Amino acid sequence: MNIAMIGTGYVGLVTGTCFAEFGHDVTCIDKVAEKIDALKNGEIPIYEPGLDVMVQQNAAEGRLHFTTDMAQAIPAADAVFIAVGTPTSRRGDGYADLTYIYAAAKELAPLLQDYTVVIDKSTVPVGTARQVERIIRETNPEANFDMASNPEFLREGAAINDFMRPDRVVIGVESPRAEQMLREIYKPLFRRDTPIVSTGIETAELTKYAANAFLAVKISFINEIAGICEVVGANVVDLAKAIGMDGRIGSKFLHPGPGYGGSCFPKDTLALMRIVQEYGENVHIVAAAVEVNAAQKARMVRKIRDMLGGSETGKTIAVLGLTFKPETDDMRDAPSLTILPALLEKGALIRAHDPQGMEEAQKLLPDDIQYVSSAYEAAEGADCVVLMTEWNQYRALDLERLHGLMRQPVFIDLRNVYEPEMMRRYGFSYTGVGRK
Ligand code: UGA
Repeated sequence: MNIAMIGTGYVGLVTGTCFAEFGHDVTCIDKVAEKIDALKNGEIPIYEPGLDVMVQQNAAEGRLHFTTDMAQAIPAADAVFIAVGTPTSRRGDGYADLTYIYAAAKELAPLLQDYTVVIDKSTVPVGTARQVERIIRETNPEANFDMASNPEFLREGAAINDFMRPDRVVIGVESPRAEQMLREIYKPLFRRDTPIVSTGIETAELTKYAANAFLAVKISFINEIAGICEVVGANVVDLAKAIGMDGRIGSKFLHPGPGYGGSCFPKDTLALMRIVQEYGENVHIVAAAVEVNAAQKARMVRKIRDMLGGSETGKTIAVLGLTFKPETDDMRDAPSLTILPALLEKGALIRAHDPQGMEEAQKLLPDDIQYVSSAYEAAEGADCVVLMTEWNQYRALDLERLHGLMRQPVFIDLRNVYEPEMMRRYGFSYTGVGRK
């Protein structure tokens, strides 16, 4: 199968590379020439475990190509995936900005030859595929193509595994021919018995938002319960385990923390709220999850202040982890972007470490943060350690050493990585989230 992938951002690059790994011939297209040049040299613009090797191997074996020129890839393609960015609109109203999608549709339309399936891979509001179809038909009335929607459910940091071993693949199609083509593309997964859910196009588009919104709700739910645990003296970790054993609830995504972040949940929950408003409806539960998420970050600031005796002024805070989750260098909507400025504003001094995210963090956080090369360096002379992101290298810290380095042995564990009892044995004044 010959595949063109428009957009070499996170989704486009991972998906294109994994399709090449399936054995398809894939050309990834991007407007940014430096990015394409770098990819041709085997340099990967994002940190995603395993992706670099997979790109290099598939490129070397001649199945994965990179170009800035659509004309080099679209005419020969059986399937054209659109995987360009859909950021939250700059108008600040929560709508997804579809400029890049529509521009791609206009540009690819005159290049279509023979029968082609054009597939929206980006997360887009319901109705976008229809618009893309309309744009292509208007630009090239002769084009012989079918439109489809194929949302992705990849998690950053685990994207390759998620792609190769998905819980399901959702394809939104309207013609048997397009369905056949997509089933062919995903054929290596059928052999692993991956369920393929074939739906209408609008259903596929909404499925993506519904899945992310549900997960965001689940996280906000457990964060709210964590707050209740703190006031009544209960333990949210035990509670989450107990409710998660109920098959109807499930144990995943029940870890309390400083609030969800990243490029998906914050953006997609807002976009869903806006989409629904346009139809004169509301998604009350999703709106509440968004509100609880903002409150959770504020609650974390108060937690740190309380642990520092009521004021962060003049205190040195060691922050371990800046990215929105481990195994990524992505800082988009990371809780640290809200929590650290609030602490700095009140006169705290921050020494921060992150295994992959410091370069990105420096672009987005205030200048007065000091970046250091290890957790221990961050802890030197600190009045507290805040474990913000649960990177593996923070999971087995040398606690005796850490304790010895600090001015005050205060440990604030926003991911509940450590056992309270053990921390107390090491002499720390310790708090987690939802366990007093
Ligand atoms: C999320 C979804 O999990 C993917 O299925 C989806 O494809 C992707 O968005 C997308 O729309 O592209 P991702 O944003 O990479 O993936 O990361 P997650 O692992 O879902 O984590 C999101 C946030 O929730 C992180 O800040 C994480 O720390 C937080 N989280 C997650 C919790 O606070 N508690 C949990 O129990 C789980």
